[in-house]
Amino acid sequence: MRVLTIIPTYNELESLPKTLGRLRAAVPASDVLVVDDNSPDGTGQLADSIAAEDSQVHVLHRKGKEGLGAAYIAGFKWGMAAGYDVLVEMDADGSHQPEQLPLLLDAINDGADLAMGSRWVPGGGTVNWPLYRQAISRTGSTYARIMLGLKIKDITGGYRAFRRSTLEALKLDQVESVGYGFQVDLAWRVAKLGLKIVERPITFVERELGASKMSGNIVVEAMINVTKWGLAARWASLTGKKAPASK
Ligand code: GDD
Ligand code: MN
Repeated sequence: MRVLTIIPTYNELESLPKTLGRLRAAVPASDVLVVDDNSPDGTGQLADSIAAEDSQVHVLHRKGKEGLGAAYIAGFKWGMAAGYDVLVEMDADGSHQPEQLPLLLDAINDGADLAMGSRWVPGGGTVNWPLYRQAISRTGSTYARIMLGLKIKDITGGYRAFRRSTLEALKLDQVESVGYGFQVDLAWRVAKLGLKIVERPITFVERELGASKMSGNIVVEAMINVTKWGLAARWASLTGKKAPASK
């Protein structure tokens, strides 16, 4: 199984080398793709210098900050073209502990089409995550679960492993959401295809360095989209037709 771990970066100069070092030590078999959106702090150049020393580390440079979703889609396409069997999403700031990656890869080995790291299943949790972020995450996940009729407990989580065939089945070019919404969007698309989604407990550790890029707009976008998708799905099941506004 050839594994590619994709790490999107925007101003992660201090965190990236630490996370890369931990990842390479914890799962040496995984190749890495850093997707940098031309970070003003020079993260992209730092990634290049690490890649020059380590043939398993690659860097994809993008023109500017276009959001987490766009960065991942570019990374997925790169990885699929390069023939990887499993594509992993991991934050650069250490919140997703590289040492826990084998939990997700085991789930894929056991037959999952999408393995999701989950803070909100027994055994999972957060360290140093502000109460308001926990509240947004739990409330958002519960709302999405009810609205979309999904069983996933941590639907906005960003620590995931996709089987290549799962990404091939998705229409990646239709995914427009950014941030939390992007994560919900992908999970919802995978669920609609009837593929096997498995959650594994992870401990999300709040970053010690740098700042979060999430914003209120991103939360609002996610809530609006979830409401739209949920209503469209209800409309479709009531009428047997696609809702006029659904993508
Ligand atoms: N290339 C690129 N472009 N990377 C980005 C961008 C962007 O526009 N925005 C954020 N990133 C990178 C960050 O550099 C980091 O590596 C990762 O995406 C996560 O960003 P954070 O800003 O640290 O997110 P967070 O800690 O607030 O949110 C986490 O929790 C959310 C809720 O569960 C992430 O895991 C999210 O994916 C998750 O939805
Ligand atoms: Mn973070």
